[in-house]
Amino acid sequence: MTDRPIDPMELRRALGTFATGVTVVTTMDADGKPRGFTANSFASVSLDPPLILVCLAKTAASCPVFCAAQSYAVNILSEDQKAVSAAFSSRTADRFATVDWSARVTGCPVFAGVVAWLDCRMHDVVDAGDHYILIGRVADYDYAASSPLGFCRGAYVSFGLSQDAVRAAEEDDGTRLLALIEHQEAILFHRDAGDGALSLPTAPRIGNADDAESLLGTVKAAGVDAELSFLFAVYEDPKSGVHSIVYRGEARAVDEHAMSSLVPFQDIPWNDIGDTAVRSVVQRYVQEREENAFGVYVGDTATGHVRPLAGND
Ligand SMILES: Cc1cc2nc3c(=O)[nH]c(=O)nc-3n(C[C@H](O)[C@H](O)[C@H](O)COP(=O)(O)O)c2cc1C
Repeated sequence: MTDRPIDPMELRRALGTFATGVTVVTTMDADGKPRGFTANSFASVSLDPPLILVCLAKTAASCPVFCAAQSYAVNILSEDQKAVSAAFSSRTADRFATVDWSARVTGCPVFAGVVAWLDCRMHDVVDAGDHYILIGRVADYDYAASSPLGFCRGAYVSFGLSQDAVRAAEEDDGTRLLALIEHQEAILFHRDAGDGALSLPTAPRIGNADDAESLLGTVKAAGVDAELSFLFAVYEDPKSGVHSIVYRGEARAVDEHAMSSLVPFQDIPWNDIGDTAVRSVVQRYVQEREENAFGVYVGDTATGHVRPLAGND
């Protein structure tokens, strides 16, 4: 077997599936001017000693400044700081005019309103391909309870939304969770023994396969071993006040008796799905699945918008 030839753009797409936070890495140059760039290559390395890393492209204008710096700070952005991320990755002349910042122990700029910041002494600079790995030793840090900005497949995503949704589901009786489980281009439905109506597996909590009252337990009882991978839709029925949270996932294993509950995309009898909101959620799923571009729907049963998760280029 030979190694496959690597197409950098294709590899970038594969690596882009790894969801990250977004940071702005800052330092002071030799003239005492603040410098910074947006980075999602941040990672924790070691707790003892406290080390972190960030990768900087050799082509970045600020590369020589950071490689020569004695210290740098990592600002982990909150979900309302997309504009800050954009400013520090664009050609904006004065990036620092877009944020309130102050210097901490090393003198590097730390931003107001971030989820966390880490002020670091430069520990090592490692030459790695077309990037340098800047390894920092944490000298001071702080963090807040706000939600981090997320980044996946070239687009910003909101982790806060799903965390809040799950929290609401755990605490609030007015929330139901639904599972949109796919197996080989077919969707798992529950068919009502009385009126024959189709619905998606529904439960008040995610739980696990051993908990019959939970969403994963309900799916398991239908004969499917599944993994819920992503949040797909969140909406409220204004009349009943019930919140619905729809997760999508894939079947890992399917029992023989579950086969009849799996309805191929092209055979779905749409009028048998009694709940019109669920019907449109499933219709969007089938459409986005065909286009391979999933988003998250946020709204009520009548209006709402789809937040894109996948940035297809
Ligand atoms: C979400 C996001 C993440 C990024 N992550 C990195 C990164 O980890 N390393 C890097 O060198 N550039 C990264 N970039 C690109 C830089 O922010 C961008 O090239 C910036 O303009 C570099 O600034 P400079 O040329 O002034 O040094 C990222 C951009 C965005 C929008």
